[in-house]
Amino acid sequence: MAKHRIAYLPGDGIGVDVLEAARTVLDALKFEAEYIHGDVGWEFWCDEGNPLPDRTIEVLKDTDCCIFGAITSKPHDEAARELAPHLWGQGFTYFSPIVRLRQLFNLHTNLRPCRAFKGNPLNLRDDIDLVVFRENTEGLYSGVELHPVPREVMRFLADYQPKARRFIHVEPDDLAISVRVYTRAACHSIVKQAFEFANKNGYPTVTVVEKPNVLRETGGLLISEARRVADEYPNVELWEANIDAMCMWLVKNPQNYGVLCAGNMFGDIISDLAAQIVGGLGFAASANVGDNYALFEPTHGSAPKYVGMNKVNPMAAILSAKLMLEYLGEKEKALTLEQAIERVISEGNVRTYDMGGKATTTDVANEVAKYCR
Ligand code: NAI
Ligand code: MG
Repeated sequence: MAKHRIAYLPGDGIGVDVLEAARTVLDALKFEAEYIHGDVGWEFWCDEGNPLPDRTIEVLKDTDCCIFGAITSKPHDEAARELAPHLWGQGFTYFSPIVRLRQLFNLHTNLRPCRAFKGNPLNLRDDIDLVVFRENTEGLYSGVELHPVPREVMRFLADYQPKARRFIHVEPDDLAISVRVYTRAACHSIVKQAFEFANKNGYPTVTVVEKPNVLRETGGLLISEARRVADEYPNVELWEANIDAMCMWLVKNPQNYGVLCAGNMFGDIISDLAAQIVGGLGFAASANVGDNYALFEPTHGSAPKYVGMNKVNPMAAILSAKLMLEYLGEKEKALTLEQAIERVISEGNVRTYDMGGKATTTDVANEVAKYCR
């Protein structure tokens, strides 16, 4: 039996191309794995009314971790129109498979390393090395939302928080709310992991990105947990930054920062910003990690414009595979892969269009694979 069992979910569009590229590289590393294919994405929504069929969830349950390509998703009305006619009127509604997977497997931590590889023409500068820890299941993305908002909900809120009074006379249909839910446990967990990582890997600082002067209760809870955790790590300094200011500083002085830590929405924002200053979507890898399972994916989507063209940059998927190797304890292979990527980028002979080159997805995969053997 192979050493590792990997759920292989290419999904839609370029997801297929970039996972194939990742496989080429993993094979060159002689990574001993059995890949079990899982159906996911738009085709399964249209044909079955479910973009994440139950059989796919079973595949994940039976594996060590998952590598995921990308999916196509569309607004509800468009999704409803593309559903196969024989499924109409049966109560199917589209949902995001990736969000569902994060919830089902409690993948509470989103890890996004954003390191500038020397010689990448897309770098803002060459000395950037950021690692974003984003809480992945709560906050403003917890799904606790209402529209319309029944009057009794607003009245009830006003009993506890007088600031809600000015909304109780608004027509329910003219009111929408999204609740920012933070638990102490999740705040503690994300900060703890950020500090643990910084300590182990020699990063001198953890910057917690929040807005506690405005979002006093949720922001306050995260900051207070951060201060408690920081006390346990004398070698790592806690920096506190507001999300808005942080966006400016990350453009101005990204080299001053190391590990960044944030709740779900602010983490979403800074991880895209951090990714862009080291090359953008073609380089943005991510890990979604829980206590018992993990899912690795490039953060880009299915890029319908480039389907079937073998044209996009597979680095984000290859870097996601590197995160998978680290998660599985394959440290040497991860290091070999990282050095291969460094070499390919600095030599600059094989580059996809986003880096100003003419190479195909497969060319880049083969070039990285060459240095992995
Ligand atoms: P996208 O990320 O698919 O692509 C936007 C543009 O970014 C592309 O047209 C291309 O110019 C560039 N790009 C993306 N990946 C690249 C790569 N590897 N190399 C070089 N250039 C790359 O975002 P878009 O167009 O907004 O969404 C397309 C579909 O993907 C939608 O259905 C959307 O809902 C879905 N999506 C899925 C995600 C996921 O699977 N996690 C994340 C984001 C979007
Ligand atoms: Mg995002």
